[in-house]
Amino acid sequence: MQRAIQALTLLASLLMLQAALLAQKNLPALPPALFDEPYRPQYHFTPAINWTNDPNGAVYFDGEYHLFYQYNPFGDQWGHMTWGHAVSPDLVHWQQLPPAIPEENGIMIFSGSVVVDRNNSSGFCKNPNAPVLEQQAVACLVAIYTGHTEKSTNGEPLQTQNIAYSNDRGRTFTKYAGNPVIDLHLSDFRDPKVFWHAGTKRWAMVVSLPKEHKVRLFTSKNLREWGPLSDFGPAGATDGFWECPDLFELPIIGEPGKKRWVLSVNINPGAPAGGSGNQYFVGQFDGTRFTNDNPPDKKLWADDGKDFYASTSFSDVPDGRRIWMAWMSNWDYARDVPTSPWRGGMTIPRELSLKRLGNELRLTQQPVVELEQLRENAFSADNLSVEAANRLLAQRSFGESYEVEVALALGKSSSAGIKVRTDKQNEATSIGVTSKSELFVDRTKSGVGSMNANFPGRHVAPMVPDAGVARLHIFVDRSSIEVFGGDGETAITDLTFPYLERHGVEFFSEDGNATIQYLKIWKLKSAVRY
Ligand code: FRU
Repeated sequence: MQRAIQALTLLASLLMLQAALLAQKNLPALPPALFDEPYRPQYHFTPAINWTNDPNGAVYFDGEYHLFYQYNPFGDQWGHMTWGHAVSPDLVHWQQLPPAIPEENGIMIFSGSVVVDRNNSSGFCKNPNAPVLEQQAVACLVAIYTGHTEKSTNGEPLQTQNIAYSNDRGRTFTKYAGNPVIDLHLSDFRDPKVFWHAGTKRWAMVVSLPKEHKVRLFTSKNLREWGPLSDFGPAGATDGFWECPDLFELPIIGEPGKKRWVLSVNINPGAPAGGSGNQYFVGQFDGTRFTNDNPPDKKLWADDGKDFYASTSFSDVPDGRRIWMAWMSNWDYARDVPTSPWRGGMTIPRELSLKRLGNELRLTQQPVVELEQLRENAFSADNLSVEAANRLLAQRSFGESYEVEVALALGKSSSAGIKVRTDKQNEATSIGVTSKSELFVDRTKSGVGSMNANFPGRHVAPMVPDAGVARLHIFVDRSSIEVFGGDGETAITDLTFPYLERHGVEFFSEDGNATIQYLKIWKLKSAVRY
């Protein structure tokens, strides 16, 4: 009872502090929240309280990774879109800061990106501590976001592209007085992602025309004046709105020095598992135009689960890795997920590459190596039958946050895999591979699923095992499962809401015996309570 009163008091003070912070900037960061509520992710970013959707403005600058995100400072449903803000030294431990760019004058701050303006191309970068006459241009952060007006002068919504800049390492932003910087008088025109194109020595922007299923490219020398370059689309999946595009160049695994471009486009609805998801195109970008290597009707999906949406990649990662993260939810049911006092969070950060499969290049995603610092209590075993593995596992508990690496030889079995967050009544999330070259995650019996008819389900991805052996890398947290198959060319991300105390892990195989060639399980330390 006393703990409950303490928790309520803390929550009330958090809410009051949050409101105060909005009014007055430059105050200290939010105090640590409990972060121990049921379903609270222990190594995924979630805001202490309230609603979040898309990650925005992911950038590395001056020793910090910045994550901005679509945030409602006033409640746990979508609304009053503002950029929330968190920083991390290592992509794993995040510290939430006061909101960075607030809704103002009826204009909500929709998704967008942040760049490091190294040479003060914008003219916004100033050393705030130097006397006016001695002011030297230094690098600063420039945010490019969509301003959304629900009812503009013609009574319709209006979406325009806008900029804001920060000379204090992202703590506060000033909206540019000349906003908007791009206005096509459209209701649906959003989610600018800006990057420096070294080849043409100018800024490039990809931004979405959601209803037309197009990405439009713009260019600028100074981030203030933009001119159109070209359009891409329609192509691939076009059943839903195109949102949150991204464009970047990636190395090809095993082909040193070779690179290819990826245009990523999030689509809602119309993803294979239903609702929102991420599709991508592989090709070439010459500074003006993106050309698709594949026929226009070819559909490629980064993640075949239900909870990977609005992905965005980090700018300026110091060692050149391309890392992205996504909102771990789905517009089908995001409003109904049974978490409190927050709603919504991000996937783990994933490093991207390309891999040649047959005569096609596929995107691969690998959990960033920084996550390995959370590992503890390694358990490992080799060459086990399903029965032998289960005898070993029956005596162990891995809690609610753990990581599994397993190599499974299907043998003659039609399907085999691992059940996580199990109990004795066969409640579990099943993760497996089938003799039809598929990876699947089945959350129909994973726990709470009744909050929305679109939640329960079995999600399937194509996955061809290497010489009959399927390698899986699995991340389990209090309310999510992320599975990477092979080198990460297959991925499934699904939220799950197990009833409490479901700590078991066990293997299964059907119609034959599978062999577990190796198994490693680590408990993962909390990155949010330390
Ligand atoms: C994607 C999205 C974006 C938009 C934002 C609004 O989830 O719809 O297109 O900018 O959310 O919160």
